[in-house]
Amino acid sequence: MPNSAEIKIDDKSYQLPVIEGSEHEIAVDISKLRGQSGVITLDPGYKNTGSTTSAVTFLDGEKGILRYRGYSIEELAEKSDFLEVTYLLIYGELPTREAYDKFVNDVKIHTMLHEDIKGILEGFPSNAHPMGVLSSLVCSLTAFYPESLDPNRSSQGVYLSIIRILAKLPTMAAWAHKNELGHPFNYPDNSLSYCSNFIKMMFAVPAAKYEVDPIVSDALNKLLILHADHEQNCSTSTVRIVGSAQASLYASISAGINALWGPLHGGANQAVIEMLENIRADGGDTKKYLNKAKDKEDPFRLMGFGHRVYKNFDPRARIIKKAADQVLEKLGVDDPVLEIAKGLEEAALHDEYFIERKLYPNVDFYSGIIYRAMGIPTDMFTVMFALGRLPGWIAQWKEMRENREPIGRPRQIYTGENERDYVPLDQR
Ligand code: CMC
Repeated sequence: MPNSAEIKIDDKSYQLPVIEGSEHEIAVDISKLRGQSGVITLDPGYKNTGSTTSAVTFLDGEKGILRYRGYSIEELAEKSDFLEVTYLLIYGELPTREAYDKFVNDVKIHTMLHEDIKGILEGFPSNAHPMGVLSSLVCSLTAFYPESLDPNRSSQGVYLSIIRILAKLPTMAAWAHKNELGHPFNYPDNSLSYCSNFIKMMFAVPAAKYEVDPIVSDALNKLLILHADHEQNCSTSTVRIVGSAQASLYASISAGINALWGPLHGGANQAVIEMLENIRADGGDTKKYLNKAKDKEDPFRLMGFGHRVYKNFDPRARIIKKAADQVLEKLGVDDPVLEIAKGLEEAALHDEYFIERKLYPNVDFYSGIIYRAMGIPTDMFTVMFALGRLPGWIAQWKEMRENREPIGRPRQIYTGENERDYVPLDQR
């Protein structure tokens, strides 16, 4: 590994430290460069900028590797359970049986929402997008639990904040959906697992017996695990940067939910299904849409394709594609958009434009097809992503706080007007 790096600006050289991660990734530490030289580095979209060191998730985009705390995503998705993975991400180790039982039980006893939250929910129009509702409800927790605002809370206090948000987010998500339908809200059923309880709150209706289908519950468990963390992506960086100002966990996560909502990030899963539906309604001509995606004059992008860091394949997409086939078969669902998705993928993988730019299906390409088979409406897809990503946001917020990271505050290169005199209103 190199010991140091040198930057030469005109004829002056600056020595910069080099640091190495546990998987031998190398970074040049430029944090002192401005102090020494007056020069900053510029990297729009942070394409090559490490914002932190982190021990939570390792990702190698070239090799298609994703590991939570050292455990491969493939093994966790096959063998683990979402709350176990949640514990792993937040506390760094797989729980013992005793620790796991306590954690699951602690989550169960906090699943109810304060009754006044119903009033907030009912104030939203029924066509409100559930992501906006979710971020507002999460932020409202700061009012119901004002002690959570203290940035220097004891670790027991932080634990309680963490348990509360983990327990309440599924209830909020299901209630946001029920509010859209104008249906009565279902209270949590704590005799059920985390995933089954959420499904029941989403779909049960009064005066009808509701049994959660274990196929649906298992599929949800897998999907949530696959989404649980993804190192310094847009929403996670948002959570860390908001939290770095010592804003509370709930305020930081509410901000993360808003970042995730965007169609270039978690909102892509909704956009993918809408795109596939459009292609189907337009006669199923995948070539036409591939050409649109390649046309630089056309703003259309192939949603669910491409990734900032994966340049070979997205390991989550591989697992989800297989799961989509299995879940649809087990549930006896024949979704014509699955065939369109496969045709589109096949055509893109053989197309020079996509090969050259290393554009492959990402996690969002097939996840919506599974959500749809489970009966989840399209505008709830990104909410499902948020439910999955919650442990990652918590783990990264907690790590940032425990590392006492400084407030996030990037620099800029100013390109506006130079100093000029004010001209009074009537003389302009
Ligand atoms: N369709 C068509 N062209 C694309 C696509 C696409 N989906 N994605 C990237 N490109 C092209 C882009 O036009 C550019 O071409 P050129 O070099 O000729 O200008 C090149 O590929 C590089 O793209 P970029 O926008 O510079 O890459 P990025 O790293 O900034 O963006 C991305 C990554 C995920 C935002 C982008 O690939 C995209 O918009 N994909 C569609 C939205 C999507 O599926 N998002 C979900 C991401 S995975 C879930 C998550 O973690 O959030």
